[in-house]
Amino acid sequence: MVKQKTLYKLLASVSILFILYALIKNYIVDPEAAGFLNNKTGLKRELNLPVWLNVMYIHVAFACISMAAGLANFSTRLMEKSRILHRWNGYIYLISVLIVVLTSGYMAPYATGGKISSMGFNALNMIWPFITIVALVQIKKKRISKHRNWMIRSYAFCFTNLLIHLITALFHYGFGFVYATSYTIGVYGSLVLLLIIPTIIIRAFLDQSGKKAAVSS
Ligand code: HEM
Repeated sequence: MVKQKTLYKLLASVSILFILYALIKNYIVDPEAAGFLNNKTGLKRELNLPVWLNVMYIHVAFACISMAAGLANFSTRLMEKSRILHRWNGYIYLISVLIVVLTSGYMAPYATGGKISSMGFNALNMIWPFITIVALVQIKKKRISKHRNWMIRSYAFCFTNLLIHLITALFHYGFGFVYATSYTIGVYGSLVLLLIIPTIIIRAFLDQSGKKAAVSS
């Protein structure tokens, strides 16, 4: 239980910091995404900048909503207070995930790193909603611990952007790779890590028998 409380506090700190970072960076510091777009070289399709930027704003807004809604729903305190709130918040999470994936579908063909990066994003566009819908199906069947585990797997994908940028920075600044190549490695590296890390967390922090029902306090 103590381990789960610590885990939730850690998750909450990372999520809140990342939400604040994403909002400040994309709406205040660099609303034109100039820093990011400068690294796009040799695009096969012409990018319609105003449309791309508006799609990106919607993408970031719903990404932040999904992160906040998901975080709130891992709190047992909230669930104990109101099951209805948990349920509605869950639907807000689900709809946000679908909007993030839809907007991602628009941006994917223009992805930094070209076609290989686009394919990675399209894989993410299928895997994330699939995992989220499996989580929903589990709770419809009243399998609480399975629902929790699939939601942990789903929530991990809220950190896609953070992880892509961390891996890209490591390969670009750390190992001297070209930015576009580092970004492609970032897309696939995060895809793999986001599938593996939740499994490790579930095994290490949550009981094997599947009797415990929540992550937090
Ligand atoms: C949930 C947290 C997420 C946040 C905060 C977020 C944020 C962003 C931001 C700010 C950008 C603009 C470029 C940049 O600075 O990176 C972006 C681009 C993009 N995101 Fe997300 N994103 C998230 C999750 C996802 C997920 C899960 C997917 C795929 C299913 C995705 C797909 C894309 C695509 C395809 C682009 C365009 C990449 C490019 O042009 O190279 N994002 N995202």
